[in-house]
Parts: sequence; C-alpha cells; structure tokens
Amino acid sequence: MRAALLNAYGEPPEIGDVELPEAGSGQVPVTVELAGLNPVDIAIASGKFDAGAPQLPYTPGLEGIGLTPGGERVWFDVPVLPVGSFSERCLIDPSRAIAVPDGTAPAEAIPFGVAGLAAWLGLEWRGQLQPGEKVLVLGAGGTVGQIAVQAARLLGAGTVVAATRSARGRERALQLGADAAVSTETDSVSELADRIRQASDGGPDLVLDGLWGAPAEAALAAIAFGGRLVQVGNSAGTQATLTAGPLRGGTVSILGHRNFYAPLQVQTEAFRTMCSHSGEGRLDVDVEVFPLEQVADAWELQQRSPGRKLALAP
Ligand SMILES: NC(=O)c1ccc[n+]([C@@H]2O[C@H](COP(=O)([O-])OP(=O)(O)OC[C@H]3O[C@@H](n4cnc5c(N)ncnc54)[C@H](OP(=O)(O)O)[C@@H]3O)[C@@H](O)[C@H]2O)c1
Repeated sequence: MRAALLNAYGEPPEIGDVELPEAGSGQVPVTVELAGLNPVDIAIASGKFDAGAPQLPYTPGLEGIGLTPGGERVWFDVPVLPVGSFSERCLIDPSRAIAVPDGTAPAEAIPFGVAGLAAWLGLEWRGQLQPGEKVLVLGAGGTVGQIAVQAARLLGAGTVVAATRSARGRERALQLGADAAVSTETDSVSELADRIRQASDGGPDLVLDGLWGAPAEAALAAIAFGGRLVQVGNSAGTQATLTAGPLRGGTVSILGHRNFYAPLQVQTEAFRTMCSHSGEGRLDVDVEVFPLEQVADAWELQQRSPGRKLALAP
C-alpha cells in the first residue's frame, strides 16, 4: 500500500510502498481517511524526541481519523509502528480510539485530536480553569493556541489574552474572541512581562504555554498570586531560566501536560464536546488538506507554523 516513509532522521518523508503487518493481539487495522500533521511528528522524526526515536525506516503520523473493520469512524492516536497514520491503512489499539460523532466530517474533527486536546485538557483538566479567571495563551497563532483562545472563553474564562509572534496571529486571536493580544517579539523578558501584566490587568491566573523559552519566563514573571502555567509545548525553545523566589512567593505551579496521560474518558468527553461546539459554530479552526503524495510539502509548511491545521488524505 502507499505510505509516507521516513528514511533518515531530520529529513522529510517520501512516498513509498509499505506492507501492513498482521494485526497482533489487541490491534485492529483501520482505513485512514485523514491523518493529522503535528509538530510532534517532526520532533519524533528528528531522532531527538524525549520519548525516543523509532527505528528507520518508518511511516510517521501520530493521529488520524479512520474506519474500523466494523465501519465505525474513529479518531485514533499512537498507531502501531512501523506504520503510522500517513498511510492508507495502519494498526491501532481500538480501546484507545474515540468514536467521531455522527455528522462531524473528518476534516472538521481532526483539529480536535492532538491539538485540540492539548488546548482543552490543558485548560480544563490539567489547569483546572475556574469561571472568571484570566487566561494567557502563549503561542496563540498556532492550532493549539487558536483552539485554546476559544476554549478558554467556552470554559468560562473572564479575560483571555493571546500572545503571538506574528501580527497575523494576533489579528486572528482577536477575531476568535481574545480580549487582548500581545506580541512576543522582544529581546527583553521584563518588557514582555509588562505587556502581559498590562493586557491581563495585573497578571494571568492560568497560562496555557505552547512555547517555553523567554515567553514562559515572562509569563511566570507576570503571573498572578497562586497562578498555574500548563506546559504543553516548546516551540520557542527547550530551555528557560527561572528565578526561584517569585515562584515560592507567588505560590506558582508549573504543570507539565501530555495528552497521552489523560484518562480515555476525559479525552473522549473533551473531543466530543469540541466537535459539538464546532458543529454549532462556536469553535472555528482552519484546516488545509494535502493529498498524501504531497507529504513533503505539508511537512515543510508545518515547520513554519502556518497558522492552520494541516492534514493528509491518503
Ligand atoms: N503536550 C501535548 O500533548 C501536545 C499536544 C499538541 C501539541 N503540543 C505542542 O504544542 C505546541 C503548539 O502546537 P501547534 O500544533 O499549535 O503548533 P503550531 O501550529 O506550529 O503553532 C506553534 C506556535 O508557536 C509559535 N512559535 C513557533 N516558533 C516560535 C518561536 N521561536 N518563538 C515564539 N513563538 C514561536 C508560532 O507563532 P506565530 O503563529 O505567531 O508565528 C505558533 O503560534 C507544539 O510545541 C506542540 O509540539 C503538545
């Protein structure tokens, strides 16, 4: 069958011919309708991902929407390697799959998998967002960030502040319901902290952080007393320098989040809730679908954070 193949770490995948292994115990084959492309696919393919490097060659793709042998449409993640979701078919553990609600098309549902869950669960489940709280979204121009801006509002935030590199990202965040948008572009952490304090009237209670690096340093400098920062990604860098005193003095919490560790029931509820909000026009995400043959173009575009969800159709 046709599938993308990663032959060398750090290189884009190529199209190749791949054989699907026999399904093992606790596995079923799915026919992939749409595969989501995420920054994590590129991080894994670098060979330097914190959770390890797959043996080469392999087919990338951490998530997809597909049809089970019984004809049920499901969202799935972590397909059984060496064949990921950038292929016509792959093997999944059906006990981890989530049924896509009737009436939600694959292209509508795909953003609410890996990206949407990081936003929704980061705020609701890990961040314990309380009604009326002030939320800061770092990396609001990306897919996680755009969903987080809207999710914060839907989950009852009082104020939503978006922080992005690009002016286009800030414009989009304001369109999506953010109360204020600040630029992360500065060499001065204290200047960015001031911008955040000002935009959030004294500092955010909850930060959804897809960036780390200097923007996270600034957010932690500006955070309100008792504030929480949920660390979901490090698009701005893997390192940050933190000062101990203000973290203690502010009783600040830094909470790591990875979707994989949320109970399936929690993931299922969040995924289906987002699909429902989308169906009723309350959650808006731009999606661009590429044919699988153009995987290398989509891969290259994703490395530049295109500000929309990219997906591959086998
Ligand atoms: N923990 C989990 O389970 C989980 C799940 C999903 C995603 N994630 C992580 O969450 C992060 C966001 O994912 P995504 O799908 O939204 O990615 P994305 O669409 O590529 O968005 C990344 C965002 O980061 C910004 N950005 C990129 N490089 C930057 C830099 N050097 N300095 C400042 N801002 C920078 C971009 O800003 P502009 O738009 O302003 O240019 C964009 O808003 C990624 O790190 C991803 O790996 C984690």
